[in-house]
Amino acid sequence: MATLIKIKDLAKTYARGKQKVEVLHHVNLDIAEGDFLALMGPSGSGKTTLLNLIGGLDTPSAGSISVGGQRIDQLGGGALAKWRASNVGFVFQFYNLMPMLSAQRNVELPLLLTKLSAAQRRKNAAIALQLVGLADRAGHKPGELSGGQQQRVAIARAIVSDPSLLVCDEPTGDLDRQSAEDVLGLLQQLNREHGKTIVMVTHDPKAAEYASHTLHLDKGTLVEQALACGGLP
Ligand SMILES: Nc1ncnc2c1ncn2[C@@H]1O[C@H](COP(=O)(O)OP(=O)(O)OP(=O)(O)O)[C@@H](O)[C@H]1O
Ligand SMILES: [Mg+2]
Repeated sequence: MATLIKIKDLAKTYARGKQKVEVLHHVNLDIAEGDFLALMGPSGSGKTTLLNLIGGLDTPSAGSISVGGQRIDQLGGGALAKWRASNVGFVFQFYNLMPMLSAQRNVELPLLLTKLSAAQRRKNAAIALQLVGLADRAGHKPGELSGGQQQRVAIARAIVSDPSLLVCDEPTGDLDRQSAEDVLGLLQQLNREHGKTIVMVTHDPKAAEYASHTLHLDKGTLVEQALACGGLP
């Protein structure tokens, strides 16, 4: 498989007052096209930071990230936002849906950044909702849906512009076991049948089993093995 994401000597430093805190140190990682990677590690180890860098939500302090041959660390704010809109879908722990909008309208949102007509936006959102098994809930607002259903709407929103990469930050962190399994099964289907490359942060070893392999972060460094007492249960 070709390499989709190439990360070289990546570092991220945050300034806390006058103090500088290096949250990621010299991360080197290649992620193949079509991979489903789980990223685990203790709270505060830098998982969200790394995921946000991979998805272009944040920029590194040093090192490089290329995705599909494009150096995203060298893109400015506007260009980076444009790159994100067509290349990455985001799934968060708390869904981040707009409460006043129907599922259909929530899924259409990323398409407002494209040149698609309103009719085409409606059609693509309906297809995405169908893919996540929620065609019959298109008119419901988030508050009228279960947590698992809301996360499936968020997944429909993440895939509606047909990005090659999905980044998911604890997508099942707030779900009961059955809803979590539904969401993980859906992610696996998007990976296997639709060729999406997925990077998923999780604290749950059972969730990581859905991925093709797992990497562990500890104090901002990628480590080979899980630590004996690392992470939350
Ligand atoms: N904007 C920021 N400013 C300063 N420090 C930050 C910022 N964002 C994250 N950090 C720090 O970076 C470290 C890593 O945070 P990160 O959110 O990546 O951890 P995480 O592995 O995702 O943890 P969790 O499992 O709790 O979500 C933490 O020490 C955190 O306090
Ligand atoms: Mg996190």
